[in-house]
Amino acid sequence: MYCREIPLTVWVLMFISASEETCTSRLHITAVEGEPFYLKYCLSSPEHEKKTTTIKWYKNESHGPVDLNLSSSPRILLRGYVLEFWPVELTDSGSYSFQMGNDTHDWKLNVIPRSKHSCFTEKLVKSKAVEVKKSLQIACEHNYYQQLVNRTVLYKNCTKMENNQNPFLKNAEFKDQGYYTCVFFLHHNGKLFNVTKTFNITIVGDHSNIIPALLGPKIHEVKVKLGKDIQLNCSALLNEKDVIYWNTWRKNEKDPNVHEGEVTRTRTSEGKWLASTILRIENINTRNLNFAYNCTAVNQGGIDTKSFVLLVEEDMVDIPGHVFTRGMIVAVVISVVAVCLVTVGVIYRVDLVLFYRHFMGRDETLTAVVDEIHSLIEKSRRLIIVLSKSYMSSEVRYELESGLHEALVERKIKIILIEFTPIGDFRFLPQSLKLLKSHRVLKWKAEKSLSYNSRFWKNLLYLMPAKAVKPCRDESEVLPVLLKS
Ligand SMILES: *[C@@H]1O[C@H](CO)[C@@H](O)[C@H](O)[C@H]1NC(C)=O
Ligand SMILES: *[C@@H]1O[C@H](CO)[C@@H](O)[C@H](O)[C@H]1NC(C)=O
Ligand SMILES: *[C@@H]1O[C@H](CO)[C@@H](O)[C@H](O)[C@H]1NC(C)=O
Ligand SMILES: *[C@@H]1O[C@H](CO)[C@@H](O)[C@H](O)[C@H]1NC(C)=O
Ligand SMILES: *[C@@H]1O[C@H](CO)[C@@H](O)[C@H](O)[C@H]1NC(C)=O
Repeated sequence: MYCREIPLTVWVLMFISASEETCTSRLHITAVEGEPFYLKYCLSSPEHEKKTTTIKWYKNESHGPVDLNLSSSPRILLRGYVLEFWPVELTDSGSYSFQMGNDTHDWKLNVIPRSKHSCFTEKLVKSKAVEVKKSLQIACEHNYYQQLVNRTVLYKNCTKMENNQNPFLKNAEFKDQGYYTCVFFLHHNGKLFNVTKTFNITIVGDHSNIIPALLGPKIHEVKVKLGKDIQLNCSALLNEKDVIYWNTWRKNEKDPNVHEGEVTRTRTSEGKWLASTILRIENINTRNLNFAYNCTAVNQGGIDTKSFVLLVEEDMVDIPGHVFTRGMIVAVVISVVAVCLVTVGVIYRVDLVLFYRHFMGRDETLTAVVDEIHSLIEKSRRLIIVLSKSYMSSEVRYELESGLHEALVERKIKIILIEFTPIGDFRFLPQSLKLLKSHRVLKWKAEKSLSYNSRFWKNLLYLMPAKAVKPCRDESEVLPVLLKS
């Protein structure tokens, strides 16, 4: 019968492989519930292989040993030196004994629950270190069940591997690190079982040590501002166990504003380590300047040191902060004052000029009245025209025209036009008067005569030429000639 043939085959195979390493010599054994499992007695020498000797298996319960030959569980098979579980369950935990003549052996079996969130049991992984760039090989072979295995699947970190080659073979890279689980599917008595074997593969750098080397120049000058914070980054290429540290101590004391950070390490693709440590200097003061903050990386093979020196930024050396601020304030104030003076000067231009004339002793000096209009005009430097309809006599008209002639043709006289009463109609005036610049036109708006200090007289005085004045002169004398009439 089919069912009888298979155990016989296994029996034969077991004898062939009896002296192999598949026997269980350890005292404490761990197994995972639900998987096929076996215990195999290790023969001390081939002479013991006497088929006549009776073999007994016991499970040591609290009330005494139980002979497993007499137990009726279909899961537990006794095959000479081997005790098989199809599969092993949590209740199988306990102490087992093998007895053959005077030889005995004991095992303590611990069956642990299957992991709910993982395809393997952490307690049962075999750790293996593989050097980077060396060959990484994962062979899914089972010494004991190999003949029964129907199919093998390889998982990496519980994800089925795309390329299901067996053995899995490649040049190791750091990304290959992880848990590799072989799942062997096997049939027994028409049922499908699986057995797992997990390798914890760690990729390690090559074992040749390098001399630690700090990155960057040996002396690093760092430009800083007083009162600010700075981070000095010291990094080195070194081996895993090498040390990197700061030397920030002065004689018998330590700066309270200098703080050394943790060392961070990252692995390079070459299998070496890039280690970095930060020195943080807060609120930089003059004590921190021109002092060598040294960083050292060291191992048995060598040492490397680098100095960081803080220097104050140059533009701040020449002008200390408070001087710079004061200078800026003075410059701004001077600018504002200058602008104000110019503005006042423009607004009070007339008053200022008159004030100047008064103090410099200059004034208009009027001659005694000249009879002849023409000679009068010739000697005049200004022609004041008072526009008034009621004052247009032929005499005035002559004065006006000859004055205009001097002004416009000879260009000896400057004209000042005073609108005594508002005049809409300028037809009676020569056309050329319309070309007069607006600032030379004064308007008389008042009903009665104005004081000498009024804006009208000041504006008129301003348009008049300046002349040296003799002291104690009567005010009325400074009035222009033509206004007298
Ligand atoms: C292996 O067998 C257990 C039960 O014995 C089952 O829970 C698990 O899913 C099986 N694993 C695979 C990969 O089929
Ligand atoms: C796997 O190996 C790494 C490195 O040797 C180790 O840190 C980790 O604890 C191991 N994991 C298990 C589950 O043993
Ligand atoms: C695995 O088992 C199936 C039947 O369950 C069978 O058809 C197949 O040939 C077996 N494969 C191997 C490699 O033994
Ligand atoms: C320090 O410098 C190293 C190398 O340049 C760099 O990898 C690291 O990120 C830096 N650390 C910090 C905190 O900036
Ligand atoms: C830092 O290194 C320099 C040069 O190697 C050395 O002169 C200086 O004394 C060191 N400073 C400290 C604080 O160790």
